[in-house]
Amino acid sequence: MKGEMENPWLQIPLEDYEGHMSASNVQQLQMLDVVFEDILNEFSPKSLCVLGATAGNGFQHLIQRTFNRVVGIDINFKYTAECRAWFIQDVPNLQLICADLNELELTDSIFDLIHAALIFEYVDVEKLLSKIYRWLKPDGRLSVVLQLPCENSAAVSETQYQSVKVLEPFIKLVEPDEFKRKAEELQLICEEKTEIILSTGKRFIKAYFKK
Ligand SMILES: C[S@@+](CC[C@H](N)C(=O)[O-])C[C@H]1O[C@@H](n2cnc3c(N)ncnc32)[C@H](O)[C@@H]1O
Repeated sequence: MKGEMENPWLQIPLEDYEGHMSASNVQQLQMLDVVFEDILNEFSPKSLCVLGATAGNGFQHLIQRTFNRVVGIDINFKYTAECRAWFIQDVPNLQLICADLNELELTDSIFDLIHAALIFEYVDVEKLLSKIYRWLKPDGRLSVVLQLPCENSAAVSETQYQSVKVLEPFIKLVEPDEFKRKAEELQLICEEKTEIILSTGKRFIKAYFKK
């Protein structure tokens, strides 16, 4: 639409994103990979949706598991294309959707687990939460990773990758208790909430919610 700003994520090359996220003073790609493997082990979902899937960080843990449906969603078509190229052969029933989560609609009650790691910082939280509630099967689960504020580091850490700086005016940290309140208003009940502290000093909340 004329006058509407392009989503800044469309301006970040995948190499820059991955280089930034795995830099020694960031180390978030590695942490998110571990979180993803943990939820697969903990919940063994048969149908799974990954919101903000990038190029499939952690998707190697899907190989050798059985799913009726695995959906990865991201707004950046270059990320979803790369994810498809890497994993479509090895992960049966994988579907990659390039879409804006603020606009996307899916069929109700189709997922055992929806994983949303560092995505709520970039979308309309309430709108996406209510869609997640609908997309989950009864007894389905939402797992989230939220970034916490950090005194000695900006929300977007300083690295050699300048393109990620477009996120600075766009990223909006989500307060975990406020998030929990909004989720529970929708009957997504918090089962577990853990703080993750990286050696870089950055802090995150990992939480599981049950429908
Ligand atoms: C910080 S990364 C997510 C990290 C990833 N979940 C992981 O576990 O490694 C945020 C991702 O969300 C995507 N994204 C941001 N806004 C979006 C939107 N409105 N709709 C869909 N994807 C979006 C970005 O393109 C980016 O790939």
